[in-house]
Amino acid sequence: MAVQNKATRCMITKAVAAILLLAPFLVVPTCGQQSTACVTTYDPTEDYFLDKSQVDGGALFSITYNLNYKVVKNTSLNTTYILTQCGTPTPNATIVPRTNTTIFIQIPVTNLASLATTAVSYIEMLGKQAAIKAVDTEGLVSSPCVQAGLEKGTIVGLEDSNSTLRAEQMTKVDVVFSSYGVDPGTENKTVITSEVEDSSPLNRAEWLEFYATFFNAEKVAQTLTASINNNYNCYKSAATTKATAKPIIAWASYDAPSSYNNNTASWLLSSATYKSILSTDAGATFFNGTDSSSFSTSAAFATAVQTVDILIDESVSGSTYDAFLENYQLSTTAAPGSTLKFIQNKAVFREDGLVNPNDGRDWFGGAVAMDDAVLQDLVRAVHPELFTISQYNWIRNIAKNETMQLLTSANCTAADTTTPVPDRALSCASLKAGGGSGSGNSANGLASGILTLALGLLAALAIL
Ligand SMILES: *[C@@H]1O[C@H](CO)[C@@H](O)[C@H](O)[C@H]1NC(C)=O
Ligand SMILES: *[C@@H]1O[C@H](CO)[C@@H](O)[C@H](O)[C@H]1NC(C)=O
Ligand SMILES: *[C@@H]1O[C@H](CO)[C@@H](O)[C@H](O)[C@H]1NC(C)=O
Ligand SMILES: *[C@@H]1O[C@H](CO)[C@@H](O)[C@H](O)[C@H]1NC(C)=O
Ligand SMILES: *[C@@H]1O[C@H](CO)[C@@H](O)[C@H](O)[C@H]1NC(C)=O
Ligand SMILES: *[C@@H]1O[C@H](CO)[C@@H](O)[C@H](O)[C@H]1NC(C)=O
Ligand SMILES: *[C@@H]1O[C@H](CO)[C@@H](O)[C@H](O)[C@H]1NC(C)=O
Ligand SMILES: *[C@@H]1O[C@H](CO)[C@@H](O)[C@H](O)[C@H]1NC(C)=O
Ligand SMILES: *[C@@H]1O[C@H](CO)[C@@H](O)[C@H](O)[C@H]1NC(C)=O
Ligand SMILES: *[C@@H]1O[C@H](CO)[C@@H](O)[C@H](O)[C@H]1NC(C)=O
Repeated sequence: MAVQNKATRCMITKAVAAILLLAPFLVVPTCGQQSTACVTTYDPTEDYFLDKSQVDGGALFSITYNLNYKVVKNTSLNTTYILTQCGTPTPNATIVPRTNTTIFIQIPVTNLASLATTAVSYIEMLGKQAAIKAVDTEGLVSSPCVQAGLEKGTIVGLEDSNSTLRAEQMTKVDVVFSSYGVDPGTENKTVITSEVEDSSPLNRAEWLEFYATFFNAEKVAQTLTASINNNYNCYKSAATTKATAKPIIAWASYDAPSSYNNNTASWLLSSATYKSILSTDAGATFFNGTDSSSFSTSAAFATAVQTVDILIDESVSGSTYDAFLENYQLSTTAAPGSTLKFIQNKAVFREDGLVNPNDGRDWFGGAVAMDDAVLQDLVRAVHPELFTISQYNWIRNIAKNETMQLLTSANCTAADTTTPVPDRALSCASLKAGGGSGSGNSANGLASGILTLALGLLAALAIL
């Protein structure tokens, strides 16, 4: 029976792969069996993890596979997660010494809390939303289906003020995903992840493989990361080899006076490495100031950014163009005549193109994992001549009145909680096939639809 199942699964996987080939940037998955349910009859000679991930040397974690358990190590913190296939024995103390930095988790995980908005997005892309039972800062979650779960009560918001109640909520989950600085790991089931600190866009996507180990979803993660890598590199290659000029881009923010900054306003230019890489890969020149990247007057800021062609405003507040002009003290009447190039170019963008009703930005959710879609947004901003893409995800042009796209529970259209949330990227290859600078929007929609369908089928296979 097992053999038959394996063979059937393999056949269907290959059929799906054939569909996937229509999207030429994807890899063809190899056939393998992955345990998605608890083992009922343990066989100590069986390998329960046929799909294995290879982690890049640069990552802050390593994965070693044994027959019935995986060892995931945090190489910078010495924390070890022992992920044991449920229904098989946890390795004993002779094999894995019990220390206070060793955390034991039964997989596949079906019951978890997420303290960070990023974890939700990674888990949903793997088609494992059903495992999310509790979320923190629930008001900021942009995922439509998690918003729907919160409304229905299938997902709870973690209590902030009543610590007794919060502790009770925590006892009901098997794993808590958190990010560094959010929760130091007070629970002996807390997994700290740092995709947000990862300085390379493609490494951020690679974290899908870290999350996947907890769900035996390695195959889905590998398909996703391969697709994101290929699509990212296609956009990068188009932007860096075809574009003749390299516009100057800066990522700026206005820090309003508050109790956190001694009531002193400042204007800042970001030096974040991943923004610098994204800017370069989009065919721009990254600018973070000449002598300084922090300014105490708007006039000093304006002087510093004279050469900047495109500005991305990352300020917390001020979502309209008028509010932007006010924050940077560029009066509305003076603005049209301003000598600042990004004003003349009408090239002022914000990262709040996808938000929930409380301004919970998907920039801190989906955008962390979907790095090909982020680069697509940036290429659209930097080199609009390369692809005539009208739609945007996170990066919208406020100088051209592009609106925020609201994500509410009504936008949850997934068939069920095991349907993977698709990457928002358009296929760069099909854009090019659509004819040079032509749009080929219907082709994109089709490719994207096929990708979604194929990934959905792959996820469905995981539960066969
Ligand atoms: C991790 O372990 C290594 C070797 O056992 C040790 O040298 C290092 O100090 C440890 N790091 C931390 C953060 O505990
Ligand atoms: C631990 O497991 C190993 C391998 O299964 C076995 O050889 C050993 O006897 C076990 N040790 C203890 C203390 O149970
Ligand atoms: C683990 O135990 C050692 C002493 O055995 C202690 O120094 C360390 O602080 C403990 N770490 C944690 C995370 O509890
Ligand atoms: C906190 O939660 C506990 C457990 O649900 C409850 O018994 C207690 O009344 C709550 N305290 C307050 C101040 O609401
Ligand atoms: C976590 O700690 C509690 C109490 O300290 C203990 O009862 C429980 O078994 C531990 N859980 C795991 C997974 O180690
Ligand atoms: C490992 O520890 C570092 C330092 O605390 C943290 O930033 C990172 O998120 C941890 N990574 C994993 C995979 O647990
Ligand atoms: C805060 O501002 C006051 C008044 O401008 C100044 O005297 C003080 O040194 C400032 N403190 C810090 C920490 O910058
Ligand atoms: C710009 O960023 C680079 C690299 O992150 C950094 O070395 C440099 O000091 C930054 N420039 C300014 C003016 O802050
Ligand atoms: C943007 O909207 C404002 C007010 O809604 C309007 O005054 C302005 O002309 C619009 N600009 C463009 C470029 O459409
Ligand atoms: C969300 O759903 C509304 C209709 O309910 C639709 O108009 C809107 O375009 C959707 N937003 C996104 C970002 O898909």
